[in-house]
Amino acid sequence: MSFLLKSTPERAQVWKPLFNKALPELEFHVWPETGNPEEVRFLAAWEPPPDLLKRFPNLEVIFSVGAGVDQFDMSAIPEHVTIIRMIEPGLTDGMVDYVLWATLTLHRDGLTYIAQQKKHVWKARPNLVAVQRRVGIMGLGKLGAPVAQALAINGFTCSGWSRSRHSMPNVTCYAGAEELGAFLATTDILVCLLPLTDATRGILNTSLFEKLPWGAQLINAARGAHLVVPDLLEMLESGQISAAILDVTDPEPLPTDSPLWDDPRIFITPHIASSSQTETAGRVLLDTVKRYLAGERNFPSRVDRSKGY
Ligand code: GLV
Repeated sequence: MSFLLKSTPERAQVWKPLFNKALPELEFHVWPETGNPEEVRFLAAWEPPPDLLKRFPNLEVIFSVGAGVDQFDMSAIPEHVTIIRMIEPGLTDGMVDYVLWATLTLHRDGLTYIAQQKKHVWKARPNLVAVQRRVGIMGLGKLGAPVAQALAINGFTCSGWSRSRHSMPNVTCYAGAEELGAFLATTDILVCLLPLTDATRGILNTSLFEKLPWGAQLINAARGAHLVVPDLLEMLESGQISAAILDVTDPEPLPTDSPLWDDPRIFITPHIASSSQTETAGRVLLDTVKRYLAGERNFPSRVDRSKGY
């Protein structure tokens, strides 16, 4: 029985000894070395190798080394194979940091002051305090919920919207398509942390932006394909949206001739909001494999194929 890792050399260097020590009976292979392919029961990868089942006929579990699984071709993964996302404290904390930074940047007119500085303009804008700023998080899952909590603790007036109903302290929770309009109507800074599925692709579009208050601002730290770029540019031109911080684009890297680069109302970061941290993610992976071997199957990080996340 073996575990196959297809990821970065840094992770391999830390995870292999970790697994070897804790589970000596489980062979640990680092792609492209696979050992006997028939022995591979567990695979951890960002992108699984092609011809998965032909190569590894006894595969039982695929782990994404990241929070998302939208990069997986689900049709190539047989139904009996369990798919597990990465939910680990390092990745969560990184996202909390990023969204706090981005929210504070927008809240304190950071993009305007950067543009003014470039033109040597000294001009103050009126300040709001955090409680006067309504931040709305789309997606209240394993990343969205802690982000919403952190924003609320930092004094922002915080709400959240998700497919199914959630409830949490200090965050007004909205659920489902019928409550999306009410959520958007009270959101000055919109944060997208949704999983990318057929239901959410292109969700950040004109019809959604128009439901936000005038001059609202956007943070997208989910996936580039959530956003319809021409719609955002049009909304920025009209003033309906006043600024955006985008950590993700479609495609990535963002092509050098994209109009997003040069717009002073847009701040681009190169998909760095958060990623799995080698130490903490390794421990979570090991713990999950141990529990799986002990017969556990209902992991909160297990992907529900009917939902796509
Ligand atoms: C990064 O985007 C991830 O899914 O972990």
